[in-house]
Amino acid sequence: MKTWTPETWKAKGALQQPDYPDPKAVDAVVDRLKNYPPLVFAGEARRLKAALARVAQGNAFLLQGGDCAESFAEFHPNNIRDTFRVILQMAIVLTFGASTPIVKVGRMAGQFAKPRSEPQEVQNGQSLPSYKGDIINGMDFDAKTRVPDPERMVQAYNQSAATLNLLRAFAQGGYADLHKVHQWTLNFVESSPAGAKYRDLANRLDETLQFMEACGLTSENVPQLRETDFFTSHEALLLPYEQALTRIDSTTGDWYDVSAHLLWIGDRTRQPDGAHVEFMRGVKNPLGLKCGPSMNTDELLRLIDILNPENEPGRLTLIARMGSDKVAEKLPPLLRAVKKEGRMVAWASDPMHGNTVKTAAGIKTRPFDRIMNEVRGFFSVCEAESVHAGGVHLELTGRDVTECLGGAVAISESNLGDRYDTHCDPRLNASQAIELAFSLAEFLKARRQGKAAQEKTAVKR
Ligand code: PEP
Ligand code: CO
Repeated sequence: MKTWTPETWKAKGALQQPDYPDPKAVDAVVDRLKNYPPLVFAGEARRLKAALARVAQGNAFLLQGGDCAESFAEFHPNNIRDTFRVILQMAIVLTFGASTPIVKVGRMAGQFAKPRSEPQEVQNGQSLPSYKGDIINGMDFDAKTRVPDPERMVQAYNQSAATLNLLRAFAQGGYADLHKVHQWTLNFVESSPAGAKYRDLANRLDETLQFMEACGLTSENVPQLRETDFFTSHEALLLPYEQALTRIDSTTGDWYDVSAHLLWIGDRTRQPDGAHVEFMRGVKNPLGLKCGPSMNTDELLRLIDILNPENEPGRLTLIARMGSDKVAEKLPPLLRAVKKEGRMVAWASDPMHGNTVKTAAGIKTRPFDRIMNEVRGFFSVCEAESVHAGGVHLELTGRDVTECLGGAVAISESNLGDRYDTHCDPRLNASQAIELAFSLAEFLKARRQGKAAQEKTAVKR
């Protein structure tokens, strides 16, 4: 492989980059950001890699979720808390309901840049650059706001730093203590069907904790009951920003992108000879790679060669986002090829991005049933190919939004306008997210029971 530096991507074709009017101003911001403190530590990224290695080996499950796009306008401690706690609740449902260790990763503290299908947006005959996320330009449809502004990178960095600071406090400072499972419930979830199921599970967990306490295991002497690991991730789309935050780790001498623990490559920017793949191959963070329906086996194996040449488990998580109607056809050949070639990867399902539809009124939404069907399809093809279904990648929020249709809370087309706040794609609200977690727990439980039954038969033989 050719030599790599944080700037070698510049010699390759970089898709989805903004057209900054003043390239010198971009360089000046990059130079400033280079001197800013790291947002995460290399040691933390290695810890996540080790956790994802357990996923790749079939011994843990990845729960990755958060906003489609974080925004400057929605920056508020309550929003961060609510997303964090719905992920915690889902993790409890999965850990307690299915006895599986859960690796928790937020699409948070840096998920600001959005790839777009169309570079321009046309409204009433006026054509302006598409909104590409708050780190690049503004969402309002006016000519000035849509001009890409490099100063936005600094604001995104600062917001990420503050978000991470709060997430660290939540994860380690007592909020995530298992004795607080009841307090995590959001008011509006309490009255939903998923809320009732959650309350029942929390009661059972309480009993278990009381039993443990009677045996002398308390939050004071068992840190695992008191705190949790929570990691951050985003799509590494805006390369000048990622480059500015790429540093040599003094412990190992390796390069890490310290803007997040895990970075992923989007479905639109995964060209093997493109700039994003070039950039990502050189950093040692754990990586994600989105695999949409146009991915073929040759291309996937080539990408794995480039991104994980040492076949290190935990380095690469493949995130399938095929669409509920395509997963059964498109995913099995990829699973089979990767397995046959002995590549150590984790497989996760993103059931969001292949299931976006427009209503008759022209609103972008995702039907909950389609999301569930893709997850179900993912589990069933993984089982058929004897591959570990390793995780899910979701767009969700802890808030009571009305962006995805359906679920037990039965959001209808006429409700969609009530609280449709997303800056990009429609997200699951907290009730829908918890409902999905209960279904996932059922899939995981069935898989465990299936495995246990097989082992029993094998012993008898
Ligand atoms: C995303 O995760 O927000 C996204 C744009 O996904 P994809 O690259 O899979 O379309
Ligand atoms: Co999205």
